[in-house]
Amino acid sequence: MSGNRKVYLIGAGPGDPDLITVKGLRLLQEADVVMYTDSLVSEALIAKAKPEAEVIKSAGLELNEMVGIMADRVRAGKMVARVHTGDPSVFGAIMEQVALLKKEEIGVEVVPGVSSVFAAAAALGAELTIPELTQTLILTRAEGRTPVPELEKLRDLAAHHTTIALFLSATLIRKVVAELREAGWRDDTPVAVVQRATWPDQLVIRTTVGELEAQMREHGIRSHAMILAGWALDPDIHGKEQYRSKLYDKTFTHRFRRGVKE
Ligand SMILES: C[S@@+](CC[C@H](N)C(=O)[O-])C[C@H]1O[C@@H](n2cnc3c(N)ncnc32)[C@H](O)[C@@H]1O
Repeated sequence: MSGNRKVYLIGAGPGDPDLITVKGLRLLQEADVVMYTDSLVSEALIAKAKPEAEVIKSAGLELNEMVGIMADRVRAGKMVARVHTGDPSVFGAIMEQVALLKKEEIGVEVVPGVSSVFAAAAALGAELTIPELTQTLILTRAEGRTPVPELEKLRDLAAHHTTIALFLSATLIRKVVAELREAGWRDDTPVAVVQRATWPDQLVIRTTVGELEAQMREHGIRSHAMILAGWALDPDIHGKEQYRSKLYDKTFTHRFRRGVKE
């Protein structure tokens, strides 16, 4: 790879322009060319690019065009920032861009962002890993037109009864509910849906497996929604003493604090 020929792949965060990292913002402000996923990345964030920057919307472009433009600009000595929604590593479709850029002998530097899964958890004030309840979070999607690998069917993942975060699944709710039930999830299992987390029109719904489909229909939610499911989403979890972390328990000794004997 010759010289410093690279594209910065920057996670913009879930929507709120203040939720980009300090590093991501600095690179965005220095870039000569900013390509971004319009409709998913806030215009207010892109407006922070320098006035003379070339700003390109990627939604109308196909992959080869997108990569062609980035490669051209990098070869012309320009600094290119490719801005993705949330964190680029989760359902970010970056691999195909990285592969084609590599063919052009152009590298990438990925700058992480706040994924919508964590923005949704924050909107709910939820902890997704609760001691002695679940210590695992599964990030996945329901199977629609895009297949999921045989060993990753939702009913099999759900058999672990962990917290599950579903991306890209708002139109597949009937299937989601059916598979959760097949995995033995009770109808009263808590589910929370956050649509457009951190945007001004954010919508939060707390429901259950049994009510999820009706609630999604009632609120007309068909896109841009994070679905978090499992008992960690129990709205009453804060009152349940048995699930307190040991970390701050006064009898628990760890590297930085000696616990007291009771
Ligand atoms: C193509 S994926 C991109 C995910 C992104 N890389 C991330 O880390 O959040 C798009 C899906 O992410 C979720 N999503 C993205 N932004 C969201 C937001 N602000 N609120 C709720 N869900 C969001 C939705 O499930 C949506 O269908």
